[in-house]
Amino acid sequence: MEKRDELYAGKAKSVYRTDDPQRLILHFRDDTSAFDGKKKESLARKGMVNNKFNAFIMEKLQAAGIPTHFETLLSDDECVVKNLEMLPVECVVRNVAAGGLVRRLGVEEGQALTPPTFELFLKDDANGDPMINESLAETFGWATPEQLATMKALTFQVNDVLKQLFLDGDMLLVDYKLEFGLFDGQVTLGDEFSPDGCRLWDANTREKMDKDRFRQGLGGVIEAYEEVGRRIGITF
Ligand code: CDP
Repeated sequence: MEKRDELYAGKAKSVYRTDDPQRLILHFRDDTSAFDGKKKESLARKGMVNNKFNAFIMEKLQAAGIPTHFETLLSDDECVVKNLEMLPVECVVRNVAAGGLVRRLGVEEGQALTPPTFELFLKDDANGDPMINESLAETFGWATPEQLATMKALTFQVNDVLKQLFLDGDMLLVDYKLEFGLFDGQVTLGDEFSPDGCRLWDANTREKMDKDRFRQGLGGVIEAYEEVGRRIGITF
């Protein structure tokens, strides 16, 4: 397969066309950003760590029967994925209160959420990724009710697989964001799963091991990502 021109450059990944219109190459860059791109930095090794992390998780999810866009690792910081028609909706599941939920509702950080919550956000940086719901998504054509039902079911299935995976490594999967797209009309998990898009705490000390280290200026960002990876059996 041949790498062609850049199709799109996101905040942390670039997407390239290939000679196969059904396949794309994702390049995980060292760039990291937070607060809708207002805080930016380049962190050495990040592209490699997130690429390998994402590949490991996507393969676990695929093995559990969740359709994902991931196909194969191409290099340290690139992988081949299916070319999805992305749906502009972010799905968030929370097992423990943190981040936006705490800010919005004033609930206590660290409170267990039973049952876990499910939220939808519109992928729209210019408007700060506003919270939406099924009715708005249907009316504005961001996703159909059937697609939304499938996205919700798959997002909770991911929770069953990953909560246990991280718990086995003595970590709590606090919350995470997933994005989906369509491949041959089938709702398929796209984007990435890495510590950039989820919250992970040490189960005993509750130390943050995810992108909150960058958002909050705690330092040791990539070291923490690598430690998470090591605990679940990834070798970088
Ligand atoms: O991250 P923030 O506190 O602004 O928002 P949140 O709603 O608490 O985020 C829930 C989870 O989704 C966190 O793990 C975020 O890292 C992730 N997220 C993301 O990856 N990308 C976004 N645009 C929004 C949230």
